[in-house]
Amino acid sequence: MHLPEKLRVGTVDIEPSLVLAPMAGVTDSSFRRLIKELGSVGLIVTEFISVEGLTRGNLRTHRMMRFLPEERPISIQIFGYDESRMADAAVIVEESGADMVDINCGCPAKKVVKGGGGSSLLRDLPQLEKILRTIRRAVSIPVTMKIRIGWDDATINAVEVGRLIEDCGGDMVAIHGRTRVQGYSGEANWEVIAAVKQALSIPVVGCGDVTTPLKAIERLSETSVDGVMIGRGAISNPWIFRQTSELMEGVKPYEPPLSEKHRVLHRYYDLLRDELPEKALSGKLKQMCGYFTHGLEGGSRLRERVFRAQTISEVFDHIDGYFSLNACMVDPAPENLQSSCITSP
Ligand SMILES: Cc1cc2nc3c(=O)[nH]c(=O)nc-3n(C[C@H](O)[C@H](O)[C@H](O)COP(=O)(O)O)c2cc1C
Repeated sequence: MHLPEKLRVGTVDIEPSLVLAPMAGVTDSSFRRLIKELGSVGLIVTEFISVEGLTRGNLRTHRMMRFLPEERPISIQIFGYDESRMADAAVIVEESGADMVDINCGCPAKKVVKGGGGSSLLRDLPQLEKILRTIRRAVSIPVTMKIRIGWDDATINAVEVGRLIEDCGGDMVAIHGRTRVQGYSGEANWEVIAAVKQALSIPVVGCGDVTTPLKAIERLSETSVDGVMIGRGAISNPWIFRQTSELMEGVKPYEPPLSEKHRVLHRYYDLLRDELPEKALSGKLKQMCGYFTHGLEGGSRLRERVFRAQTISEVFDHIDGYFSLNACMVDPAPENLQSSCITSP
């Protein structure tokens, strides 16, 4: 069975060969640090960052690019169309000390596509080539690209795009196994991902619907890709990287008890507080709580309460109440604690 333990992208070692996918609105510094703390992620990628914002000195955009040393190795993803602006943005990324720069060639959002960037570049290979060659000349850190398998079912061109990326000096390609038209519907097509891997000699990382450690291992072994990138699966289960690594080593994967989920929600809040203004905290915490409690018994009732809460302390009253009540049910507390458990909301 082919299970790559690490991969090398240009001069950067990624070990294990598991990558946190870029996710706008999710993979900010707090979330990335949480994932790093929980272990076994080889590379993390930022949310996509606008080259227009970066090159025009927009403060909010520059703030999105900030990262801490413990997040390394880190790749900063940029999106845009104009090759000289893209190259200027890549230089800003390099100067920030990031380990690599990733070019978004997969975003399906109308606003991005209308500007010629994201997945639109899959239909405009001359422009994609210009962007890659210009960026390649401008920076010395590894340059990678994240693509989809094509624009629609009739124009699946990931192998052609992959070859172009390699010819232009790209150091890695990550592929989400859906077309732009598919959005997030249907299933990721890992056969196309495997075909790209067969065709290229630079590292190929596959992405799409890896929601369990077993799926990660199956994808690695079936397709021979050099690494697996995980997005939504890491939001609902941020331990998925550790569990996958353990499974690769033949060790029984860690199953977080409820108390660990509870701890992680508090930890995420602490990390958010370092990053966000007070008024943005509650929305982010509610969002995370929503993802986290899927599949938990009584989770939907908890989510309703949390979403209605007006203040952070109300949010935590509900969260703490839920976890202490359920901890009591799973693991009976000593008698002197039981009455407080029963009266929790
Ligand atoms: C909320 C969300 C935001 C995303 N933002 C980005 C992004 O900024 N850049 C990007 O290349 N892909 C983005 N993606 C796509 C993911 O990186 C990934 O390719 C996709 O979700 C499929 O992987 P998964 O099934 O493991 O989630 C986003 C996906 C989600 C769900």
